[in-house]
Formats: sequence, C-alpha cells, structure tokens
Amino acid sequence: MPGLVDSHVHASQFPNNGLHLGTPLLEWLEKYTFPTERSFADVKVAEKVYPRVVDRMLRNGTTTASYFATAHLPATKVLAATTAAKGQRALVGKVNMLMNCPENYREESVEESLRETEEFISYTESLKSPLVQPIVTPRFAITCPEDHMRALGALASKHKCRVQSHLCESEPEKELVKKIFPDFPSYTYLYHAMGLLTDKTIMAHCVWLDDEEVRLLAEKRAGVSHCPNSNLNLLSGHCNVKKLLQHGVKVGLGTDCSAGYSSSVLDAMRRALHVSCSVGMEHSKHDVLTLPEAFHLATLGGAQVVSMDDCIGNFVVGKEFDAILVDDTMEDKIQRFLYNGDDRNMVEVYVAGRRVVAR
Ligand code: GUN
Ligand code: FE
Repeated sequence: MPGLVDSHVHASQFPNNGLHLGTPLLEWLEKYTFPTERSFADVKVAEKVYPRVVDRMLRNGTTTASYFATAHLPATKVLAATTAAKGQRALVGKVNMLMNCPENYREESVEESLRETEEFISYTESLKSPLVQPIVTPRFAITCPEDHMRALGALASKHKCRVQSHLCESEPEKELVKKIFPDFPSYTYLYHAMGLLTDKTIMAHCVWLDDEEVRLLAEKRAGVSHCPNSNLNLLSGHCNVKKLLQHGVKVGLGTDCSAGYSSSVLDAMRRALHVSCSVGMEHSKHDVLTLPEAFHLATLGGAQVVSMDDCIGNFVVGKEFDAILVDDTMEDKIQRFLYNGDDRNMVEVYVAGRRVVAR
C-alpha cells in the first residue's frame, strides 16, 4: 500500500510521548513542552533522540513527515541530516518563536530568527537530498509578533518554501490571539495578512474555525493537518473534518507527538474515525468519515496537504515508489490491517524506491 503521510509531528517532543496528557494546551506548553524542547540547546540531545524518532516513524510506515524541531539551529540541522541519511521524505522546520515563551527558550530577535532560518534553508540545500526540504515554522501567532510573522511570510515566499503552524487548536488559544491581535477579524485572517496562508501552507488542528475562516482556507488552498489524538489529550475539541472536506479544504492527518501519544498514522486514522463518529452523534447527523476516506487522509490527502501530491500519495504511474509491504497474514484483509494492524505487520517499507525497513 502507499506509504503513510504524517503532516504534523514534533520530533523534539518524543521524549514526552505518553506523558503529561489531559492538560489544556497553554498550560501543557509552559509546564512540560517548552522545558523538554529547551534541552535541545545541547546538540548531543538531538544526536541521541532524532535517529530514534526517524527509525520509529519509518517502522510505522511513515514514509513522509512534516517535522517541527526546536528553535535551535544546530539541533534542527541534526534532524534534517538524520532524515536524509535514513532516507525518509521529510519537511523539517526550525521553530520560530519570540514572545509568550520562556526567556531561556526563544529566539533573540526578528533579525536572528530570519538569519538562522535562512541558514537552515541553505543547510538543507547543502545536504543534496531530494527527499528533505526546509519548511518555515512560526510556532503559532501567540509566540510570534506581527513584524516577525510578516518577515517569515516574506522569507517563505522568497525561497518558495512551505509554511507550517498551528491554528484554532483550543478556545483559550483563540481568545488569546484575539486579545494580542485585536485589529484582525480572525485568527486565520491574521495568518493570511502576514503572507503565511498559501497553497503551500500546513495548518495543524483547525478545531475552532468559524465559517468565514473555513472559506478562507479553501480559497487559499491551504491544508489542514487533523490531529485527533492530540485534540482529545489536550481537551482541545473535536474537529469537524467532514465539514472541511465538504467546503473543499485539503485535509491530512497528523500524529502531533507528543500532544498525541502515538507516532503511528494508523492510530491517527482510527482516532479520526472515532472523532467523526462523535461529531456525527453530537449533530445527529450520520454522514461520518468512512474507512476509505480515513485511508485517503492518511495517504493522498496528506500528500496534498504537504504539497507533494504530484509525486506521492498513491501508485499512479510516474510517481515515486513510497510504499509499505504488509505481511501475508493480513494481505487479503485490508480493513483488518487498517483497524488492527501495526508496525509488526509492515514487512518492508520503501521511500523513493529504496527499502528503508526490512524484517
Ligand atoms: N501550539 C503551539 N505549540 C504547540 C505544540 O507544540 N503542540 C501543540 N499541540 N500545539 C501547539
Ligand atoms: Fe503541534
């Protein structure tokens, strides 16, 4: 089957996988997540953690991932080099953040943020890997002042880079954005005004969009990474994926480790199905996501969100061979694999025709 696409995952948060859940977003960031990410100031931490992250993802059949690293340039270079060496298709982002985060874990100034982000872009080019590309990564509006976001939008445009961030994940987050940026009609419009909302943008979560924001995402062809495991753990809410799809928004799946506790896109698929059932029950509507639709989100939908559907996502002739060979106890039972299978059933994994996992 086609390789799985994780359109939103924090490689630097894997040390916290399975810890600190059931805490709302803003408190979770401050108490647990920023301190863990800060430890990547020591590049040795990155050298220890990142190879294990990429191995784990590949074993789970994630042939393409869009990664948040941390705000540290040297550690983010390690992640890019690791994905290149291990042959995973990857978007890698150095996180940009300047305010509403700890003084000992933030970039120093807009100038430094731009300089380091540009140096990271050059570094990924120097790797000469067709699989690994940089992605401009303003953490979210709460951590990025207006001049910072505008400059990052311009930088992405100059280098023709993709952009990733978080949008409308929780209600308190949305309220805080309204307070910090009162002159903008919505959270989504704010990103648009900063030049961050294009057909090469990945916005994670998008649980609390109003109708105008859904329309704007569809119009700009920006993609949504649906992260159901995370949205449950941080009490963020239920994203109405059916509605996004009906409005023509591109949707893929994200594990969002470590707010999501599983690094498997199969898990994200199953959570997406459950959340869709819950949303359907809440609205007394029973047009819920089907298994084939969830599988589409995990593959071609994800490929659209990371702007790679011209080369991956299915087996159309001319595309790259990113694939999973599922073991023969499962082979004629695709439904059962999608619901009950895991990495043990993935006998081989391929990226761009190269075998990256073999059992
Ligand atoms: N919003 C800003 N940063 C983060 C993060 O690291 N995880 C999640 N889930 N949401 C965020
Ligand atoms: Fe996230």
